[in-house]
Amino acid sequence: RNHESLFKEFDVALEPNHTVLDILYTLKENYDPTLSFRSMCRAGICGTCGVKVNSKPVLACKTKVRELEHPITIEPLDNLPIIKDLVVDHSVLMERLKKLRVWYEPLGSNLQTFKTNPMVDKSFECIACGLCDASCPVFLTNQDFGGPMSFLRIYKLTQDPRHSKREDSLLRVKDGHLQLCTHCKNCSMVCPLGLMPESIIKFEEAELIKKGLISQNLSNSFDFF
Ligand code: SF4
Ligand code: SF4
Ligand code: FES
Repeated sequence: RNHESLFKEFDVALEPNHTVLDILYTLKENYDPTLSFRSMCRAGICGTCGVKVNSKPVLACKTKVRELEHPITIEPLDNLPIIKDLVVDHSVLMERLKKLRVWYEPLGSNLQTFKTNPMVDKSFECIACGLCDASCPVFLTNQDFGGPMSFLRIYKLTQDPRHSKREDSLLRVKDGHLQLCTHCKNCSMVCPLGLMPESIIKFEEAELIKKGLISQNLSNSFDFF
């Protein structure tokens, strides 16, 4: 994806049930021991194995060869610095979470649970794979954007009565320039868990408008300052 980009071609015998991660291990074991990529659980849980396959961000361990057009092109995720080969720097994702303070600050009460709804449940289920951020066009022009992963994960904090800083979390959503979202829905299309970050962004946007924190005509704009 830059002047130093390098593609290598391999001719590998594949079974339809092989995953992209199986391909990567086959390449490493039989063709190029220097090839670097990430994986841990091999079961779609840890979120570490994200790569771009035939131009789409996917989890390598959950993507079967039979679902793909051939030849198969495997690249590192967009919008994240490359460390080596297919390994990208996930600390950028963590910095985005830190910037919006996406963590609980509990009330000093005994409240243990709260009644969630399906959208709040989605906010709890995110595995922080970053595929949504890798697909987001806003980062092409604005690195201060909070990103779909942070906006999805902060949603539970804006709704959970056990969190002592719900209003503050909503303000952080505004500070993350949520209104720069173009609602292209790329993030919802690539999320391997079907968590629909774009729908959650719409909920947050509606709440910001209701509270007078952003104006209707600013939301959904292409104003890049
Ligand atoms: S819907 Fe918004 S947050 Fe999601 S990829 Fe598009 S611009 Fe980014
Ligand atoms: S919202 Fe989906 S795509 Fe984005 S980080 Fe969470 S699990 Fe991954
Ligand atoms: S290796 Fe854990 S999600 Fe793919």
